[in-house]
Amino acid sequence: MNGIKIIGTGRCVPSKVVTNDDFATFLDTSDEWIYTRTGIKQRRYSTDMMNYEMAVEAAKNALENSGTDPLEIDLIILTTCTPDFFYPSDSCLVQHYIGAANAACIDINTACTGFISAVDMARRYLWTGDCKKILIVSSEFLTRQQDFTDRTSCFLFGDGAGAVIVEAADKPFYSCLGAKGDPLEALYCRVNYESNMPLEGFKDYDKSIRHILDTPEKNKYLKMDGKAVYRFAVDAMTDSFAKVIAKAGVNSRDIDLVIPHQANQRIISSAMKNMDVDESRVCCNLADHGNTSSACIPTILDELNRAGKLKEGMKTVLVGFGAGLTYGSVYMEL
Ligand code: ACO
Repeated sequence: MNGIKIIGTGRCVPSKVVTNDDFATFLDTSDEWIYTRTGIKQRRYSTDMMNYEMAVEAAKNALENSGTDPLEIDLIILTTCTPDFFYPSDSCLVQHYIGAANAACIDINTACTGFISAVDMARRYLWTGDCKKILIVSSEFLTRQQDFTDRTSCFLFGDGAGAVIVEAADKPFYSCLGAKGDPLEALYCRVNYESNMPLEGFKDYDKSIRHILDTPEKNKYLKMDGKAVYRFAVDAMTDSFAKVIAKAGVNSRDIDLVIPHQANQRIISSAMKNMDVDESRVCCNLADHGNTSSACIPTILDELNRAGKLKEGMKTVLVGFGAGLTYGSVYMEL
């Protein structure tokens, strides 16, 4: 029973709302097409905050919600696939701005699976006894990576951050993480390095991604094969859900609450149908927020918490997938 307890939650929701109709003003698309294909109606875009600033706001809200002094935090795990800098990591910036001077800081990137990876990691730190309180904050500024001429992907994403504070608790906890390395076929967004090395002989290092570099209009932004991701996602969500409840020794019908990664309503519905989970137990906010990558799940946790809907002992599954391709699930009792 080496589990965890969520003692506080927070989120940052950017104020700028972008609707499907807004996309129809500059792309050959429609509200009807986007909504029926994805379940998304609108998403929030950051117009005035960096990624770390959204993380700071979510973290401050979680500290306040849990009544935790920032100096009590032993570790900050920040998940993002849209960092502001190569270094410092966004977790170090968060540490500074929330005043968590006793915390170690680690950024991780398993793309949209980030929050699940971080929860798994936090539990391990808590149960070694090295940490008593851990802040997990997931922050994503995905609109920076979108090709707004690509009508097959840009409407899917939004910006935002969610945070939780966790400590060890004598409760059931099981997790299942995995990956299926994608050789830049299903989903990627490359790092843009511009070399100014004046010496000869330093120009072949990037030949393995020459096919990307030679397509200049595509080489700066997220690139996705939507159908390939879709197929992977349904199988990965179903399999990791099945594995984690098998580890926990519970039946899918016993689950009180499922919070899936918010990529596409059809992906979620297919996976939940495969697992025989009633939709009334599945929490979604993608109609209003779109896909905010690793921030989706903690944002929903905060919405539920503040609405008084997280009840002690609820059998909960978090399940997701992401670029990588990564996938993962957590079974925990609240
Ligand atoms: N508006 C109108 N028509 C469009 C649009 C659009 N925005 N985009 C594509 N179309 C057209 C296509 O051109 C195509 O027309 P054609 O049949 O004449 O060629 C038709 O609509 C169907 O296109 P498909 O690509 O087959 O559409 P699909 O049903 O696969 O839906 C979607 C596309 C929504 C992207 C879907 O594949 C999907 O959701 N995939 C998974 C995406 C995802 O979850 N990514 C994860 C992102 S990162 C992460 O979370 C890990």
